[in-house]
Order: sequence, then C-alpha cells, then structure tokens
Amino acid sequence: MTQHPVTTDRPADAPAAAARRADWWRDAVIYQVYPRSFADSDGDGMGDLPGIRARLPHLRDLGVDAVWLSPFYASPQADAGYDVADYRAVDPMFGTLDDADHLIADAHDLGLRIIVDLVPNHSSDRHEWFQQALREGPGSPLRERYHFRPGKGEDGELPPNDWESVFGGPAWTRTANPDGTPGEWYLHLFAPEQPDFHWDHPEVRAEFESILRFWLERGVDGFRIDVAHGLVKAPGLPDLGDHDPLKLLGTGATPCFDQDGVHEIYRAWRKILDSYPGQRIGVAEAWTPTARRTAHYVRPDELHQAFNFQYLASSWQAGPLRRVIDESLDAMRPVNAPTTWVLSNHDVTRHATRFANPPGLGTQIRTPGDRELGLRRARAATLLMLALPGSAYLYQGEELGLPDVTDLADEVRQDPSYFRADGQDGYRDGCRVPIPWSGTEAPYGFGPEGGPSWLPQPAEWARLSVEAQTGDPASTLELYRAALALRRAHPALGADDNLTWLPAPEGVLAFDRTAPGGQRLRCTVNLTGAPVTVPAPGDLAIASDAVTRSAGHAVLPADTAAWWTTTG
Ligand code: NOJ
Repeated sequence: MTQHPVTTDRPADAPAAAARRADWWRDAVIYQVYPRSFADSDGDGMGDLPGIRARLPHLRDLGVDAVWLSPFYASPQADAGYDVADYRAVDPMFGTLDDADHLIADAHDLGLRIIVDLVPNHSSDRHEWFQQALREGPGSPLRERYHFRPGKGEDGELPPNDWESVFGGPAWTRTANPDGTPGEWYLHLFAPEQPDFHWDHPEVRAEFESILRFWLERGVDGFRIDVAHGLVKAPGLPDLGDHDPLKLLGTGATPCFDQDGVHEIYRAWRKILDSYPGQRIGVAEAWTPTARRTAHYVRPDELHQAFNFQYLASSWQAGPLRRVIDESLDAMRPVNAPTTWVLSNHDVTRHATRFANPPGLGTQIRTPGDRELGLRRARAATLLMLALPGSAYLYQGEELGLPDVTDLADEVRQDPSYFRADGQDGYRDGCRVPIPWSGTEAPYGFGPEGGPSWLPQPAEWARLSVEAQTGDPASTLELYRAALALRRAHPALGADDNLTWLPAPEGVLAFDRTAPGGQRLRCTVNLTGAPVTVPAPGDLAIASDAVTRSAGHAVLPADTAAWWTTTG
C-alpha cells in the first residue's frame, strides 16, 4: 500500500506554535496513552511513567497536540487503574509523583499538552473513605459518602434495587458488619471493587475540587472525566424495571445515568479550570443516548469536549457515517463546542479489527476477520476522521495499524468484565496488548530485551513496530505522520466547522473544507469494495492507497480515502 505523494516535513517550531495557540483544544489531535501498555522502563512487564517520558519524542514526531494518560494513580488494579485508592498518589507500579512532574515538564518542553484521567464516579474499595465506612458500620455519617443501603427481604438478603453492573451481575454487594453479621449493601455500577460515590454529599464535591486543583497546580492541561454521565443518580434510586442489559452505549434514559444534576458539578469545575492560565480543559466520557444529550456536557459554562461514541460505533458504511457526522456537527453547533471524533480507545475492539468484520457486531469483537481489509479501511477511516472539523482522538498503536489480539488465553486476561459476564462482553484486553517499538523478538522494545510484557504480543508484530515502519512510505505510521503534518499546516483543516458535502457515487463520501482565505481541502472516501472514478480537483495531497489520475479524474481503489488541495 502507498500513500503518495506526501511530505513528512513540517516547520521545526510547529509543536511549540501549536502549544501557544489560544483555543488549542478546538482542533487538537489528542493521543491516548494507556500507561500499562506504552513503554516499560524497569522490566517488570508493565508500562510506567519513565517509559512514557522516554518515548515522548515519538509523539512529537507523530504530530499530535496533546497526550491523554489513562489512570496511573495508586490502585489495586481491579479495573486496570480505574479503581483509584488515592487520587493524589502515583501507583509504585507506574513510578512516583516526581516521575509525573518530570513527564508533564518534558511534554511541555516538546510542545505537547498533558490530560490526565479523573475517576469521580467511584473509588477503589481500598480507598480510605470506603474502608472507614466499612469499619464504622451502618448509621455512620462516614457511610454517606457512598451509597450504602439496607437490603430488601426479611433479612435484608435482597439487593436494594434491580440495578445491574455495567460489567454484568448485580450493581450491589452486601457488606459484613464490624461484628461479622451480614450488613448493608453498597452500590457499584462497575466492579464490586469500585463503589460509587454519593455526589449529594458536600465532602465528595469538595474532595474532587481539591483533587482537580492538586493536578492543575502540577501543570496538567486538562482532565478526561471517567463516566462523566454517572455521578448523579435519580433520587430514591428507583428500579429500572423491564430493560435490556445495561450497556454504556445504546442504553436510553435510566435512573443511573445522564441525570440533569451532573451539570451543576461541571459548572463548578469549569470555574476552577478557568481560574488557571493556559486553557485547561475538561473532556466528558459521557455515554448518552443521543448526540444532543452529549451536547449538554459542553455548554459554554461546562466542559470543553465530549467523546463522540456514536461516531466510534458507526460501521464502515457511507450512509451511517455521513448521518453520524451531520448529527454530531448539528448537535454541537448550538453550544459552540467542537465536535470530537474517535475510532478506538482502551475499551473497544481496535477499529482495524472492527472494520475487518461484518458490520453489526458491536464494539467487543472476538474474531480477527479479514485483516488486510480491516487495515485498508482503518487507513481510509483515519484520513476521513482527520479531515473532519473539530478535535480528534487517537489511541496508542492505531498509528501502527495494530489489530486487536483476539486469541488471548483466559489465563492472561485481566479485564474484570471478561470474568463477570460469562465472556459475553469484556474483550478489552485485546486492545491493551503492549505496543511494539523495535526489534524482532517480543517485547519489541516495549521493555528491556528478553523482558516480559503483561499481555503477550503476537509474533507478527515485529513488522508492525515503530522501527520497522519508520521511513517506509507505504507504512501506516508514515501515513499518520504525513496526515497529521498536513492537518496542522493546511488552513482549511482548522477548528472552523464548515463542511460541504458534494454529490458522489453510491458508497462514496466527498466533502470540501474551506479556509477563510479560500484555500480548499477536499476529502473523497471510497467505502465500497470496488474502485470508483471521482473528479480530481487540484493536487493530490495524500491518499491511503495508490490513486491513479487522468484528465481531471482519479480512480480511488476500494476502501481508500484521498485529500486534494486547491487554492481558490
Ligand atoms: C470507563 C473506562 O474507560 C473503563 O476502562 C472503565 O472500566 C470504566 N469507565 C469504569 O471506570
């Protein structure tokens, strides 16, 4: 595969210039680092902060604007760090607070911003507040910072309501009283090791405002807010009644999620963010039923961005993609927030594997599908995404075209949802396999030579490493580098949300983006399985596969995207 012609050069001071820009987040490309799986400096098989620090130049050279780090806080790792025991401490597995400070400073020196993950819906069951609550027993005010309730039934043997955990099974676990007798139940929308905070409690609110300030003072540029739609529950915790299993995407209105009361919290947080210099941002992980509900989280006095999960969940089909693009832009315009775009993250099957499989299988897929087809589509999908107005999220390893690892043995899996739901869901380990940097043997530079990696890496990943792809113009890594450089340099690819759809053959998407100065970028995407002929306006800037041209026309191979530039 080739992506000609491209230029990988960009002005030497481009990252620094980007870092200085006002409203930097409106069109930022934000790269998600999953710390366990990015780079391991000490050879224990788990990635860590010094490892990330050493690899920051890769991210600068890739051409992203910011790095979002999944949680690295003190945690027993019942849910890979999304169970936080101390929000102000770094888990020794990842390093120290000093390492975090150095990482933030180095990133800033390279022109990269740092966004950290904040997990306010629940803590770890090892968090001091939860441990105190257990020790104190029923009736203690210290229990009011979580949702403790007596059970139903004669002896309180039934859960307080019918809510289910997103990971499967009931959302309640019964405690033992300090004297050992069966006690109250507590709510956990995720694993039992993740008790939900009670956000009506003023101490919970005050504590999180203090945590925000703790990290803002250390220089972070923003927060990705985990389960941002879950903090406030409907008063009285009413039963769900008849319903489909709780899922993060595709669940309609429920008493557990997307309650209007959450917005008051984000208004308070926005004031805190705005009180620090340099446009610090909040990004909502809010799985709402519609893009319009998502827009509530990014009203001018709330958060800055929200993930676009409707886009992530779209199949590789022209009609559904165009619909979700239009709906996303339409939803965000009234609140003047940038639309975001995302194809992969640490919770879903990588898009190279989703697109390798038939549509309709959802985001937890167990089959590798047609790998070559998946990669072709993934490359085209990237050019489509990066041409859209707004901000884009990349997940580590997608720049290498990594597929999901679908054949991990049960013994190595760690995703708690895999074990709780009878394997029906929870295939998240497949996208969390440590990424290959160099060499021909595992761990491919992820850690010291001959060292372990917490999930095994497939043998064929040698040819997908950063080293193997660097300098190869046909590689996915060079496609990303070139596309990101063009995106940064081309005036039509700014934050301005103009997008004009053009007539196109069935299964083809074509649109123009136009800069205020008249410079135009056209993106054409062939989502069909056969070549199509399209008008070739101006110069071919980049393509995900070889495009042939003749007399004002171009032939786009199957599942291929191209960008064209013109002036005027
Ligand atoms: C969303 C996170 O992305 C996911 O990894 C985690 O399991 C849940 N929230 C619970 O924190």
